[in-house]
Amino acid sequence: MGQCGYNLIHPIIINNAKETQHKLMSNIPIIAGNWKMHGLSDALSTALLIDEPARLSLAKTVIFPPATLLDRLSQTLKAIDSPIEVGGQNCRSELSGAYTGGISAEMLKDAGATRVLVGHSERRHGLKEACELVAKKTLGALRAGLSPMICIGETLEEREAGQTQAVLTRHLSDSLPDALAGKDFQVAYEPVWAIGTGHIPTDSQIVEAMSLIRANLKARFKTGPMPHILYGGSVKPDNAAQLLSLEGVDGLLVGGASLLAKDFTKIIEAAGRDA
Ligand code: PGA
Repeated sequence: MGQCGYNLIHPIIINNAKETQHKLMSNIPIIAGNWKMHGLSDALSTALLIDEPARLSLAKTVIFPPATLLDRLSQTLKAIDSPIEVGGQNCRSELSGAYTGGISAEMLKDAGATRVLVGHSERRHGLKEACELVAKKTLGALRAGLSPMICIGETLEEREAGQTQAVLTRHLSDSLPDALAGKDFQVAYEPVWAIGTGHIPTDSQIVEAMSLIRANLKARFKTGPMPHILYGGSVKPDNAAQLLSLEGVDGLLVGGASLLAKDFTKIIEAAGRDA
């Protein structure tokens, strides 16, 4: 895997004691699958198929299923003592209230989630969620004891206008509350133009973004564990190993290719085997 810019010494929350011994070690990549609005009951079998590769992998494997599957997926994985973690794809910032259709971070946790995605571009751009709302949701996640994975990334127009650095800097300063200091969280760099398009940035564009994000986080969160920084956007079985080899890439956030067990298995395997 790529050389992590920090010593990643933060404990990744896992239940299985045997796995814990191996996976509390530093430099453990995270391979996360975001199923988005895909998956009925039969999708549970996909998770069962990736249990074995997840056990063998050096990486920590996470699935973000649709909310309707969270509880069942979590129970199914628990029943086989799987090291795979599950997380929510979104949450509201409030604890509870008259928010029809809303799901709080506490509800996700109650359903078995250990993590939650916030600020995914399909919500930032598709649903016009601003950085300030992402920051509130992040606070909600922390309140519930979930580890937030905060997504940031520039659009194609912003990149072409030379605004990538400014956008990433703004996303980091406005979407990440100070309360994250000392907490377990991750940042996922997902260029909007790479999501679901088959286009990925050049290696140097990714390394540059990772380095900017890392420097920003390092300057801001001086104490406590340093977060993983993941790359996301058109990750596939045939580019996963190369992406993971890039300096500063601590893991991958995978959309489409996490829906098929055989593809996601190859991506998990690209992280290398647990010794
Ligand atoms: P993709 O999606 O892998 O299908 O490009 C990534 C994401 O949206 O997290």
